[in-house]
Amino acid sequence: MRFQGKRAVVTGGASGIGRATALRLAEEGAEVLVGDLDVAGGQALAETSNGRIRFQRTDVTQAAEIEALMAAADAAGGLDVVFNNAGAAGSRDKIDEISPDDWDRTMALLLRSVALGIRYAAPLIAKRGGGAIVNTSSVSALGSGYAPTAYSTAKAGVLHLTKMAAADLARHKIRVNAVVPGFITTNIFTSALGLEGAVRDQANAMIAATAAKAQPVQRAGRPEDIAAAVAFLASEEAAFVTGTHILVDGGMLIGTRASWDEQVPGLFDALQAASA
Ligand code: NAI
Repeated sequence: MRFQGKRAVVTGGASGIGRATALRLAEEGAEVLVGDLDVAGGQALAETSNGRIRFQRTDVTQAAEIEALMAAADAAGGLDVVFNNAGAAGSRDKIDEISPDDWDRTMALLLRSVALGIRYAAPLIAKRGGGAIVNTSSVSALGSGYAPTAYSTAKAGVLHLTKMAAADLARHKIRVNAVVPGFITTNIFTSALGLEGAVRDQANAMIAATAAKAQPVQRAGRPEDIAAAVAFLASEEAAFVTGTHILVDGGMLIGTRASWDEQVPGLFDALQAASA
């Protein structure tokens, strides 16, 4: 019960990583306010939470809506913890094809939203004498080949923003950290492809099978894996942790695939085969 008496805001909490985190924080005693575009998903979560999770429709690309979300949590009794997590794939265009508007839209969704989440939450958390903010980045912030260019650039921005904000907000006793998920089985992929209903379920099953083989840990990443790291960073157990990130990727970024996958020949295997 690390969050007994605490109040938290989770953006993107109607689905996937945000949903699992809202449930985890609530299980550990927090009162949680979820902000999301998905009204049906957000309301369904709130209805099954015994009153511990409330929902407010929020579009994180709209500054006034983020401000209203934080203010609503504050008005209900104060704000201690914020998880800036809402997101989607954004533009999938390469850098030599993307339009200025698509670039701006992707940055607004994935980077500006986090900056403004921090901006509007910080004064309210400061009033409580301090607290914690966690932001969702991605392995795509740390290398290419994991996600589209605009998305990956925004997620790299989230990592640096996390450091800058941790420095700015230390004087208010607010810690700011990021979680860096690897390949986690959520609806983000099927949403990007616009899939619905049975086709979505089918595609999600294929994605889960692929995810199980994408990294050294031989199973698919789950939203709960990320929720556990977020709960740690947001809790007093992480009281001496700020301005950094936790990589939760099943080892995806350890190194080349050949280093851990026996099916993939490494450089020396290839040389040996060539010289035989
Ligand atoms: P998801 O699709 O299950 O959940 C994302 C939630 O964000 C949805 O409920 C969606 O309605 C909401 N959302 C989208 N745009 C919004 C907006 N403008 N305003 C408010 N809410 C909005 O996806 P998932 O995977 O749980 O994504 C959560 C975060 O994790 C995102 O920031 C994503 O980029 C990040 N991430 C996910 C990874 C994965 O493999 N699933 C890997 C690395 C990062």
